[in-house]
Amino acid sequence: MSTTWTWDFHGYDPKEERTIEALCTLGNGRFATRGSVPESPAGAVHYPGTYAAGCCNWLFSKVAGQQVGNEDMVNLPDWSRLRYRCLPDDGPVGEWLTPDDPSLRHYKVSLDLRGGVLTRRLLFHDGHGRRLGVTHTRFVHMGDPYLAAQRTTFRGYGWSGAIEVESVIDGDVTNTGVERYRGLSGRHLTGHRAGVEADGVAWLSCRTSSSRIRIGIAVRTSSGPLVAVGASCTETKTVQRMRLPVSRGCSAAVVKSAALYTSLDRPLGDPLSLAVERASHAAAFAALLASHRAAWERLWSQGELQVPGESGRVLRLHLFHVLQTLSPHTAELDVGVPARGLHGEAYRGHVFWDELFVLPYLTLHFPEVARGLLMYRHRRLPAARAAAQRAGYSGAMFPWQSGSSGAEETQTLHLNPRSGRWLSDHSHLQHHVGSAIAWNVWRYGQSTGDTGFIQGPGAELLLGIARYWGSVATYDADRDRYRIRGVLGPDEYHDAYPEAAAPGIDDNAYTNVTAAWVLARALEVFDDLPAARRRELAEQLGLDDETLNRWDDISRRVYVPFHGDVISQFEGYGELAELDWDAYRSRYSDIRRLDRILESEGDTVNCYQASKQADTLMLGYLFRPAELQELFDRLGYRFDDEVWRTTVNYYLTRTSHGSTLSSLVHGWVLARRKGPDAWRYWEEALLSDVADIQGGTTGEGIHLGAMAGTLDLVERVVAGLEAGPDGLRIAPVPLREVPRCSFTFCYRGHRDIRVQFLPGRLGIRVPHSRLNPPLRVRLPGERLVTVAAGEQRWFRLPARSVRRDDDGRYSARSTAASPRME
Ligand code: BGC
Repeated sequence: MSTTWTWDFHGYDPKEERTIEALCTLGNGRFATRGSVPESPAGAVHYPGTYAAGCCNWLFSKVAGQQVGNEDMVNLPDWSRLRYRCLPDDGPVGEWLTPDDPSLRHYKVSLDLRGGVLTRRLLFHDGHGRRLGVTHTRFVHMGDPYLAAQRTTFRGYGWSGAIEVESVIDGDVTNTGVERYRGLSGRHLTGHRAGVEADGVAWLSCRTSSSRIRIGIAVRTSSGPLVAVGASCTETKTVQRMRLPVSRGCSAAVVKSAALYTSLDRPLGDPLSLAVERASHAAAFAALLASHRAAWERLWSQGELQVPGESGRVLRLHLFHVLQTLSPHTAELDVGVPARGLHGEAYRGHVFWDELFVLPYLTLHFPEVARGLLMYRHRRLPAARAAAQRAGYSGAMFPWQSGSSGAEETQTLHLNPRSGRWLSDHSHLQHHVGSAIAWNVWRYGQSTGDTGFIQGPGAELLLGIARYWGSVATYDADRDRYRIRGVLGPDEYHDAYPEAAAPGIDDNAYTNVTAAWVLARALEVFDDLPAARRRELAEQLGLDDETLNRWDDISRRVYVPFHGDVISQFEGYGELAELDWDAYRSRYSDIRRLDRILESEGDTVNCYQASKQADTLMLGYLFRPAELQELFDRLGYRFDDEVWRTTVNYYLTRTSHGSTLSSLVHGWVLARRKGPDAWRYWEEALLSDVADIQGGTTGEGIHLGAMAGTLDLVERVVAGLEAGPDGLRIAPVPLREVPRCSFTFCYRGHRDIRVQFLPGRLGIRVPHSRLNPPLRVRLPGERLVTVAAGEQRWFRLPARSVRRDDDGRYSARSTAASPRME
C-alpha cells in the first residue's frame, strides 16, 4: 500500500515503464540513474539512463538538409545491468528473464522517499511448478555522491539448482530517450576501454567525443553463496558471470557497488583510478544503505514541508525529486537548474528560465545551493557579455537555453511530430531570461542578507542585465516611451507577426515590465554599494551618469501595451483573430500543443489570440498586486484591481497550457486573487508528472519547475511567507484544500525556523542561537511581533484573514492577532 513516504506501482505495464523510470529516478545532485529495470537494455519499452550534472557534449547532425549542432546531457554507461536465468537440477536451462517474459506473475515497484530507496519485486512461474522471486534494491548514495549500489535477492520456490547471473557495465549507450530527437546524432561516448581487476572489480572508461570529459565507472559485484565466476570484456562492456545455488526457500543475493567519476570532479584525478579505488573499498551494502539513509534524514529535516493528505504526498515526491537534482552536493559543482532534472533527455539537460520557479524554495531551505546555482550564471557573464556585444548591445544577454559554456544552446530547428516537418526555432529571442536571473539574485539577497554575494557577483549580474535592457530599449518619440522590439515572451507560440518576414514581436508586456523592474533594482543596488566598490563597478561596466539617468528614465517610461482595460501580451495581440476554442477542443482530445496542431493544418498560431502558457500573468507570479501597482504607478499606467481582474480573466480563456509551468502560475495568481479556480489549476500542476498530464513527456524527464513551484506555492502563497531585509512578513491565503501546513526555513543567519500554519492559528519557532537577533515578523493587520531565539509563539489568525485584499492588506479590526494566544 502506498503511504505518505512510499510510492507503489503495482503490476507490469510496458506502456507505463518510461514514466515509472522517470518518477523512480534516484540521484544525489551530482548524478542520477533512471528507475529502469536492471534486466533490459534500452529499447522500445525500457530506457536506462545515468546522467552526471554538467556532463554535456556537442554533436552535429544533418536534418532537413541542414547541419545543426546540439549540446546534450550525456547518457553515461549503465552500471545497473544484471540478467539472470534458472538452471534447475531437474529441467532444461531457463530463458534469460525480464519483466517482459510471459512467466512473470507478480510485479511491484516501491519508491521509499524517506530513505531514497527503490525496490522492485518480481515473481516468475515457469509452468512446471518452479517459481523464482527476485527483489532488486537500489540507491544512489546521498552522503557519498560518487557511489550507488544495487542488491538483487533471488529466492526459489518448488525447485533447486542454480541461478546464472550476469553483472554488466554497459558502455554501448547512446542518447535516444526522446523520440523527437531520434533523427539527431546521439552517440556521445568514445574511446572505451573495459576490464576486470584481479580483485574482481570491473571497470569501464570512456570520454565524451567533443567536450572530452573523461568518465570512469567501476563496479564491485559480490554475491553469496557463490559457485563459479567468469568474466568477459569487450571494449564497451564488462560481463561478470556467477552461479548462485538455489535450494528450496533459501535466498541468494548479488550486490553491485558502483563508483562513478568524471574529469569534471574536483580535486582533479584520474576518473578511472578513482572509481576503481572507491568501488574496491566501498563499505558493505547494509553499511552503505545506513549512511545513505542518514544523509537523507538530514536533508528531509532541512527541506521539510508538510501538508496533510494526498496533495502532501505528491508534494513530498516533488520535494524528493528537487533534492535529488539539486542537493547540497550541487553547490560544489558548476551547474545550473536542468529543466527536466537529471531524469531524462528532454530539452537535453539544458538550463532555461525555470530556475525562477526553483530558486525561491532553495533560497529558503538550502541557501548555499541557491547561491551555487546563481554562481553558475555568474561564471557565464563573460559569455553573456560577448553575446550582447555580437548582437550590437552592451551589458549581459543571457541565452534562452544554457549548457556548459554559457553560449546560446537553443536549437535552430525543431520537429513538429504531428506534421513531420522541421521548423525554424526562434525561441532564443526569449531575452526575458535575464530578468529571471536578476529577480532570483534580488530575492536571494532579500532572504539571506548575503552582502558578500549581493555586492560581489550579485551586483555584477544585476548591473550587467540592467545594462543590456538599457541598451536594447529604444526611445519612440511618438509615444514618448521606450520600446523593446523583436523578442519572444514566455508564451512561445507567438514568434512573429502574421505575414512578417522577420521573427519576433514587439513590447511583450512581461518583458518590458520586468526590464523596468530590473533597471530600478539595479539602481538601488548600485546606490547601496560601498563607495570603492561602486567606483570599481562603474569603471568596469562603463556606468556613467548618463547611463544611470537613462536607466532611471526607462524604468519609468517603458511602453506597456493595453487594449481596453487589458494589458496586451504584446503590441497588437488584441488585434489578432479569436480562435474557435470549442471547435478545436471537439476535434482534438488534447490541444495543449495548439501550435503543432495549427502548423500541421497549414495554419499558424501566430494569427490567433492563443497563448501556450502564462505570459502577462507571469507578472502576478513575480509580484504581489501591491508591487505591481507600484511598478505600474512608476510607469505612469493605470493599474488597479479592475485592470488586473480583467486581464487575468482575459488570458484564462485564451491559454492552452502547453507547459506545466502554466497551470502553476494560473493557480498562483488565482490563489492570490482568491479565485474559485485556483485549486483546479494548482491540482493540475500537482498532477503534472504523477499523472503525466502532458501525455508522454514525464518519461523524458520530470518537470522540475512545476515540481519546485508547487512547494513554493505552499510556502509563499498559502502560508504567505515573504522574507525581506526588515524581517518576515506572513500573510496566509488558506486554500480550503490546504487548510494546514508546516515547514522549516533559513532566514538571514537563522536556520531551522519553523512555521506551523493551522486553521486560524500560526506558530513560529526560532531555534536557540547566541548570534541571531530576535526575528521580526509582520502578521496580518500590519501587526509587528518578535520571536526570540529559543522561543516558540502562537498567534491567532482571525477567520476573516482569508478575506484579505489583493495587496495582502487586512483591515485592522478583523485581523489583530489575539494577545491571549501568546
Ligand atoms: C516552456 C518554457 C520552459 C521549458 C523548459 C517549455 O515548454 O514553454 O517556458 O522554460 O519548457 O521547461
